[in-house]
Amino acid sequence: MTEELNINIEVDRLQKSRVLGGKSFRGLAPLLEGEQEVYLVYDEQVAWVATEVVDALRETSGAACIKGAIAIDTSEEEKSMDTVLAICRQLLDAGASRKALVLAIGGGITTDMAGFAASIYKRGIRYANLPTTLLAQVDAAIGGKTGVNLDSYKNMLGAIVQPEFTYLSADVLRTLPPREFRSGAAELVKTFLLGDAAAYEEAIGLLSSAEKADGMGDGLQHLIERAAAIKAGVVQRDPFEKGERAKLNLGHTFAHAMEHEARRQGDDLTHGEAVAMGMILAAELSEREGTAQKGLAARLRADFKAAGLPTDSPYPMEVLRPAMLRDKKATGGTVRFVLFKEIGQVEFRDLEP
Ligand SMILES: NC(=O)c1ccc[n+]([C@@H]2O[C@H](COP(=O)([O-])OP(=O)(O)OC[C@H]3O[C@@H](n4cnc5c(N)ncnc54)[C@H](O)[C@@H]3O)[C@@H](O)[C@H]2O)c1
Ligand SMILES: [Zn+2]
Repeated sequence: MTEELNINIEVDRLQKSRVLGGKSFRGLAPLLEGEQEVYLVYDEQVAWVATEVVDALRETSGAACIKGAIAIDTSEEEKSMDTVLAICRQLLDAGASRKALVLAIGGGITTDMAGFAASIYKRGIRYANLPTTLLAQVDAAIGGKTGVNLDSYKNMLGAIVQPEFTYLSADVLRTLPPREFRSGAAELVKTFLLGDAAAYEEAIGLLSSAEKADGMGDGLQHLIERAAAIKAGVVQRDPFEKGERAKLNLGHTFAHAMEHEARRQGDDLTHGEAVAMGMILAAELSEREGTAQKGLAARLRADFKAAGLPTDSPYPMEVLRPAMLRDKKATGGTVRFVLFKEIGQVEFRDLEP
């Protein structure tokens, strides 16, 4: 466990969470000490991580606490109530009691579904996260939002329930495909753009220096921890998104519209790619609205290019506008945009798209 990362999130007396991190993900084993019933819910693509967690436990507190391992397929189609029910059914068949802990091992789809299953099984059991994508490490696995899609509506069903802990280790990213890595990098960069100018510079430098996670050394672990700390701070101050938490939507109004259009046209676009391009559009809008100085968008464009992030939306604004108005956050013809003041600082503006 690294000394520096040990953050507490306390929503209220009952909902407390910890974010921890270490060079090797095997460092999470001691956190399971004293547990009597642990059920792994893992993405099949990272079965190797689940295996190593069990090995690490054998060497420390013992693997006897592992009472079951539930493998799931991950895709947005499988991110459904059916899969959550299948997880609950397997917990029940295995005899999971109300003292059980679910340990989610995988990307955001896995942590969202395992967390949701835990939040409803026997009216709620505890869960913890070992996120294995960069996106889940800096975003999805922190903050307690869990859930599934309903038909074509994304994350329409769910609950906000904090995990016992989230363990962050760049070590698990070794096998993450480069495109998934860059997609997560967009959220990493987003977090710094809204909260830490110095870390932003560092992130652009590191992402420009190497193609893959394993070429980035300790610098990557440090940045993951820094981004997680920023997100944890926002969640701590505003767990139910009554205000500040919406900052995390920087670039997302545009991104959601792009993702909508991509689905309509059958284009292949990841969430992170859309977020990167959405942040450039947000910077352009900030310049036009006068919240940020001229030159910001050009600066971000150059940085993103160097860092291997996409910059220019394939869809024109006329196409994106109707989708933005349908966004679940739009009210009465206006949309709450997150605009830049400068790198590291943002503010809200209600505008007509
Ligand atoms: N709860 C939240 O606050 C929150 C925030 C952001 C996103 N999300 C959700 O997260 C999901 C996206 O998360 P994601 O990008 O992590 O998706 P994901 O879980 O689908 O993972 C992406 C892909 O990488 C594979 N994978 C994961 N880890 C790997 C590893 N270490 N090596 C090799 N392959 C690996 C997965 O099998 C999958 O194919 C979306 O459903 C989104 O709605 C939730
Ligand atoms: Zn996002």
